Amino acid sequence: MAMNIIHVSAECYPVAKAGGLGDVVGALPKYQNKAGNEAKVVMPMYRTKFLYNHEWELVHEGRQRMGAFGFTYNIIREKNTELGFELYLVDINGLLDRDKIYGYNDDTERFVAFQIAVCDWLNSWHTPPDIVHCHDHHSGLIPFIMQNCYVFRDKLQYVPTIFTVHNGQYQGWMGWDKYHYLPLYDGYAWGKLDWNDMINPLASAVKCADRVTTVSESYLEELRYSANGLENLFEYEKGKCRGILNGIDAEVWNTATDPLLEARYTSRTVADGKLKNKQFLCNEFGLTPSLPLFSFIGRLVGEKAADLLPDAIYQSVIQYQGRASFLILGSGEPEVEAALSRMVDPLKGFYNCFIGYNEGLSHIIYAGSDFLLMPSRVEPCGLNQMYALRYGTIPMVRSVGGLKDTVLDMGNPGGFGIRFDQASVADIVYSVGRAVDLYEKQAPKLVKMRKQVMAIDHSWDKAAAAYQGLYEEVKKI
Ligand code: ADP
Ligand code: GLC
Repeated sequence: MAMNIIHVSAECYPVAKAGGLGDVVGALPKYQNKAGNEAKVVMPMYRTKFLYNHEWELVHEGRQRMGAFGFTYNIIREKNTELGFELYLVDINGLLDRDKIYGYNDDTERFVAFQIAVCDWLNSWHTPPDIVHCHDHHSGLIPFIMQNCYVFRDKLQYVPTIFTVHNGQYQGWMGWDKYHYLPLYDGYAWGKLDWNDMINPLASAVKCADRVTTVSESYLEELRYSANGLENLFEYEKGKCRGILNGIDAEVWNTATDPLLEARYTSRTVADGKLKNKQFLCNEFGLTPSLPLFSFIGRLVGEKAADLLPDAIYQSVIQYQGRASFLILGSGEPEVEAALSRMVDPLKGFYNCFIGYNEGLSHIIYAGSDFLLMPSRVEPCGLNQMYALRYGTIPMVRSVGGLKDTVLDMGNPGGFGIRFDQASVADIVYSVGRAVDLYEKQAPKLVKMRKQVMAIDHSWDKAAAAYQGLYEEVKKI
């Protein structure tokens, strides 16, 4: 049955992206529309390039309050539906229209106001949507607001809500001194907002949404014993939780057409195409094309175990006597950025890094590397390993979350990647050794493996069908 679905998110590629959340929200609705639905996205209006390069029309003007603070908001729509779905931006002057997505002192106020504006707008629709699908804590208060706040509940309390946990580490905590930010609700409902004496938007969404999904099955299991304080909650609510593995946008991530690559290729021409992209990287970063290239792309934070990279790279270069080269693209914790930058000179010729965010470079790295390293401590799904596979690059991953669900170690029948158990320097260095051995001594196996991984289908169709099943389930509640 075709449905009218609205996704609420802080990120959506290519409008604004800080990580995988943006990729997912930029792709899933497109595939849902291809399957006959009417899926839309609503997100904050930041000052991004996309905003200035596209045409917009004003579709709604509203006024709401957040505690004592009254604000007006506008909803604008991208005129040409270029993304394959209708995109709506919430403009709250002075609060949301900033250069960055996150990282401001008033992020709490910014995202609470965003969520109130979204509910107010939904409340103005002639017919409410069939499904409101919220993503991560920035939209986590919406199920509570729709069901409990007097101004909205008449119309919105029975609209089914889905909440997807992309990252349970960040929960949007706020003190109870801010309870008055939300429109009036029955006082006895406070427990649906609370976790450990704080208002916890992520916990509230898990309690209030009709269904909760995580972005891989293994992550759902892991949350029951490691969820940054919410373990018991995921245990109590397991009946309504499902793990649905993300897909990747096979149109954006296509080696045959990717405009960001130095050379395009197919699985038939992967050896040559990969080499050309690798040569470009080696020229740019002073590395040697004949050595296997190990790369890391991502946020330089503890979850990604980025703090282990400096030691692991140093030790690998020494232990394997310069038979491997390394390239890092990322930004994050200042100490990790500094440690990675300090190593460039001493390891010249074998290692380099680009500290910052660069979408174009990331595509060339996926294409031009031999191995992609992901030693993550926590990885709810992980998209990088799926991009790597599609680009013929062998993933080297820690067995956790979505990495465990998408990579099979080459030691198994049909295996195609390298897996290790611990987020530790020793496990990374050992795995680099296995990869160097594969590169130097088992070239035909590597050639075959590249073709094999490029053929793995991680497109969105399967996940979109799983979400559809879930939507049908809640429509019947
Ligand atoms: P997370 O969302 O936890 O950061 P994912 O693996 O789901 O991890 O997605 C990360 C996404 O962000 C991928 O598309 C990856 O290519 C991209 N990315 C991360 N860091 C950078 C960077 N410094 N430059 C370009 N792209 C990046
Ligand atoms: C989060 C997770 C990552 C996942 C992404 C998209 O940022 O850290 O593992 O792939 O969301 O769901």
